[in-house]
Amino acid sequence: MRVLVLHGPNLNLLGTREPEIYGKTTLAEIDARLATLAKEQAIEIRIHQTSHEGQLVDHIHDAARWAAGIVLNAAAYTHTSIAIRDAIKGIGLPTVEVHLSNPHAREEFRHVSLIAPVCVGTVSGFGADSYTLGLRALLGYLRRA
Ligand code: DQA
Repeated sequence: MRVLVLHGPNLNLLGTREPEIYGKTTLAEIDARLATLAKEQAIEIRIHQTSHEGQLVDHIHDAARWAAGIVLNAAAYTHTSIAIRDAIKGIGLPTVEVHLSNPHAREEFRHVSLIAPVCVGTVSGFGADSYTLGLRALLGYLRRA
């Protein structure tokens, strides 16, 4: 089984970016934890980070050719991107939305996720653990399907 993990804008700054909100774990550390979990679960993951909306859309389209599902932190595009929502809906791969912080406990503009309605579910608020929890949730979903 193969899974795409996609990190959106500004997540390359994790570790130094607003650590009181996002923690001190770097993106490389998150990716390493995901790689360990993937190995444990005997699956393959491919991971990409980009701050460009169109590139996120391209990665989602590409995943339709090879992946069984997607773990996605669309970061700020969560709250603005109809294009990413349409891409997820358009390819129809099960997608789990993840966030390090709990957007509902933050500014009002973060309370709306345009992508949540086209995702299987959302894991948010658990810092770096949101990613491993999200990957476990996706695998559970795929294995039950
Ligand atoms: C985020 C939450 C978003 O509101 C924010 O724009 C991000 C990160 C998170 O992981 O908590 O960049 O997706």
